[in-house]
Amino acid sequence: MSRLAKFDVVSIEDLETADIERVFALADDFAAQLERGEQITTAAGLIMATLFYEPSTRTRLSFESSMHRLGGAVISSADMQASSAAKGESLADTVRVVAGYADLIVLRHPRDGSARVAAEYAPCPVLNAGDGSREHPTQTLCDLYILRKKKGHLKGLTVALCGDLKFGRTVHSLIYALARFGANIVAVPTSGMDVPDYVLERLAAERNYSFSTVTMDELKSLAGGLDALYLTPSAPHQMALFTGDESLRKIPVGEPPVALDAFYVTRLQKERMSGKEASAADYVRFDARALRTSRTNEAVVMHPLPRTNELAYELDADPRAVYFEQAAAGVPVRMALIAWLMEKAAAASAVARPVVEPIRFKAEPPPRCANLNCITRFEGSYLAPRFTLGRSADTTVLALKCGYCERELKTEYVGHARSHRYYRFDENLQGYVQQWIEEGSLAVFDSVKQAEEGGYEPYKRGPQREVMNEDEVVRAVESLADQVIADVPDMSAVSIVGVVSRGAMLALRLRDLIGSKTKVFPPCAALDVYKPDNALHPIDGAETFSVEERAIVLVDDVINSGWTVQRAMATIWQRGRPAAVKLAVLIDRGHRAVPIRPNYVGKNIPTSRTERVQVRLAMTGTDPKAKSHDRVMIYSIVEPMKAPEAAH
Ligand code: NCD
Repeated sequence: MSRLAKFDVVSIEDLETADIERVFALADDFAAQLERGEQITTAAGLIMATLFYEPSTRTRLSFESSMHRLGGAVISSADMQASSAAKGESLADTVRVVAGYADLIVLRHPRDGSARVAAEYAPCPVLNAGDGSREHPTQTLCDLYILRKKKGHLKGLTVALCGDLKFGRTVHSLIYALARFGANIVAVPTSGMDVPDYVLERLAAERNYSFSTVTMDELKSLAGGLDALYLTPSAPHQMALFTGDESLRKIPVGEPPVALDAFYVTRLQKERMSGKEASAADYVRFDARALRTSRTNEAVVMHPLPRTNELAYELDADPRAVYFEQAAAGVPVRMALIAWLMEKAAAASAVARPVVEPIRFKAEPPPRCANLNCITRFEGSYLAPRFTLGRSADTTVLALKCGYCERELKTEYVGHARSHRYYRFDENLQGYVQQWIEEGSLAVFDSVKQAEEGGYEPYKRGPQREVMNEDEVVRAVESLADQVIADVPDMSAVSIVGVVSRGAMLALRLRDLIGSKTKVFPPCAALDVYKPDNALHPIDGAETFSVEERAIVLVDDVINSGWTVQRAMATIWQRGRPAAVKLAVLIDRGHRAVPIRPNYVGKNIPTSRTERVQVRLAMTGTDPKAKSHDRVMIYSIVEPMKAPEAAH
């Protein structure tokens, strides 16, 4: 039998409260033994591998030190850029190989959800030493250990979390743990760096817990009267300390805090920012003044380190500054965690946790996580997308939670695979969607176009109205051609890209019209946003099509949500560097989910969100018989109150 249980710590929530208590008790023992200079051999013969794909000082060295202190051994790759990862080895392969050399893997990785992937593929236990901006559970063990040591208990403490609460992974794990131990949280984010929704939603759903968010200025004024924290109506203060049978309403609100017990400060996680977020200039800065008020003079100052400018060095000499103790706790606490894994292996077999089965989707391609830093975006080839139902409060979208990074994907269109109908999602569909999930017939689409290209028909067309006849369609296409000709100084620099399928038909018609008016026939390509391998191909008989340095006119029939056009733009930019991309649409219905504005519009037809504009087109405008196919129709797509029983 292996000396370590196959037990992974990906989230702090993987540990039961009793487990954390046991780790702390072991940490006390180890700290005392280290203090006495005793030789410890608990883990003699065991090997730990540290795989760090991101810089680290404390976490890596304290893990390695803790294994040495336990009498075990450590193997490591000094720089993962110098490992096979640089040759393109997948994370799944790396951890399987390394598990052959070690009994335990400690992983730090820049991508959200990477630790989950490693845990699933490695046959040995995996400890998450920080995965992207998601979690850092072993740092939280150190944080809690020191906080409890300083304060004697955790329940009822009031902890102000300050700084970058968006990307600070140590904060996310700490929030879950503070909620569990019944501490009060006050979030004090730097502007724009709030605790992410997925953390808040998990906290509310699993721990029935919420907390107040205040600005630094408010906190400064509140420090004189913290009671005010209880008066924030939009974010009722911690309503329930523990989940239990009692309903939320019945749990009495506790006494207002008399004072703050701790500040937990984090650095701005610059390496995870896209540039739009907060700037370092208005970041929090803590100095000795923060601890001078009557409500803060008992407060300890914590920081996971490294610090940048947010903590003044003058604080270091203050006994309430405990950040170096937090860092030092890394050794006994991580020794304790390893020893606890050994105890767990020796104990009777672990109780399997209930797992929520991921949804089986019926549409190709399956949905893709929207988080650009999700591990599935980087190791997509072997990781099947995995989603469960999300918890978003927005009832106009179906929220799907990524099984790797926990972020929610919000989809607007759902389909039923047996009836081949699609619907705009609406809360009345919730019950049906649940049923379709159970029978394995749910399809999701991020646009009407995707649904229709997949052969799905809108549910309940309702009365159809013709809003443009053939002559009007022909005039609108002409108007588009004229707008392009008037706008573009050099037609020989133009290439036309049409979005499959009606956008591509329109592209050809535009090309012919432009050609007959200017004697320049721009090259033409079709773009299929849902076929990544063959996304852009010539449709005018040419062999190749290049976007490089060209003025691209991107053509589509109707702009609905805008997602398709956005994807199409992204695909064009992936293919090269066009001189410009302009958008031409036959119909603009006036509203969309993404801020995209067409440059050339054939006709504006304002519609409501539940209406659907459908364009029917003849192949070319030159064939007089085919012209009679040209039509623009409008109809409602879902009648929400008469939900889809007819779909079955
Ligand atoms: C933190 C980390 O890497 O997430 N440091 C740590 O592990 N002690 C915090 C940080 O980098 O800001």
